[in-house]
Amino acid sequence: MDTMNQNLRHIVGDRHPMLLAAADQIFGAGGKKLRPMVVLLMARATAEMAGLSNIVAYHRRLAEIIEMIHTASLVHDDVLDDCSTRRGKDTVNTLYGTRVAVLVGDFLFAQSSWYLANLDNLEVIKLISQVIADFANGEISQAASLFDTEITLDTYLDKSFYKTASLIAASCRSSAVFSGMSPEVKEAMYDYGKHLGLAFQVVDDILDFTQTSEQLGKPQGQDLASGNLTAPVIFALRNSPELVRTQLRYLHLV
Ligand code: FPP
Ligand code: MG
Repeated sequence: MDTMNQNLRHIVGDRHPMLLAAADQIFGAGGKKLRPMVVLLMARATAEMAGLSNIVAYHRRLAEIIEMIHTASLVHDDVLDDCSTRRGKDTVNTLYGTRVAVLVGDFLFAQSSWYLANLDNLEVIKLISQVIADFANGEISQAASLFDTEITLDTYLDKSFYKTASLIAASCRSSAVFSGMSPEVKEAMYDYGKHLGLAFQVVDDILDFTQTSEQLGKPQGQDLASGNLTAPVIFALRNSPELVRTQLRYLHLV
């Protein structure tokens, strides 16, 4: 994980002082680094199954690419959500403005595509490219269902798959690909990542209500404030629809 952090700063920072400063902001301490950790743990587990003595360089590079893609999506997400803090620090859009933040996100997506292509594995390229399309799909579905008190749990889980679980599922499967696993094992690893990702999103959405901004490292209550009705609200709506709708109206949210 330490090597990964150093490599990420190097990959992003070399070309322009603005990018170097942005890299410091986005790849410095603060992030949980859950996704690359899952890639590396999956690499260890599957390498052992394959009888390899250790994980390989492709696994390590994959972990870096996944963190780069995730971070690119957050830089763009903070522009869309007009969010001022992330990972306990000012966001790129707060520090350098929206235009630079859009370009930094684009740059990270572009760099990750280049490193992805250089893994020279068509199966993994297809898996990870699909994730970037899924992100856009998830964000569009979310924007289309803001303030919709008729939203079902299935729609919410669908949206959560696209915006969160797709990346973790593809990461797990790609890690298994680099260990040379069978189609059955690769499928099982994808399903594991998908369910882990969905569970992660539900917990993330609960924490948005139960933790403070300091604990979260980003503003608390953002989902509700922006009309993004998540699992806690959907369950509350299911149990007491009229009461919850009245409360949302009182907050001028619907
Ligand atoms: C965080 O959601 C957002 C994501 C995990 C995905 C963001 C994806 C995009 C902005 C699409 C970019 C796509 C392309 C093709 C350029 P959140 O706002 O619920 O989480 P948060 O509370 O951490 O901000
Ligand atoms: Mg956001």
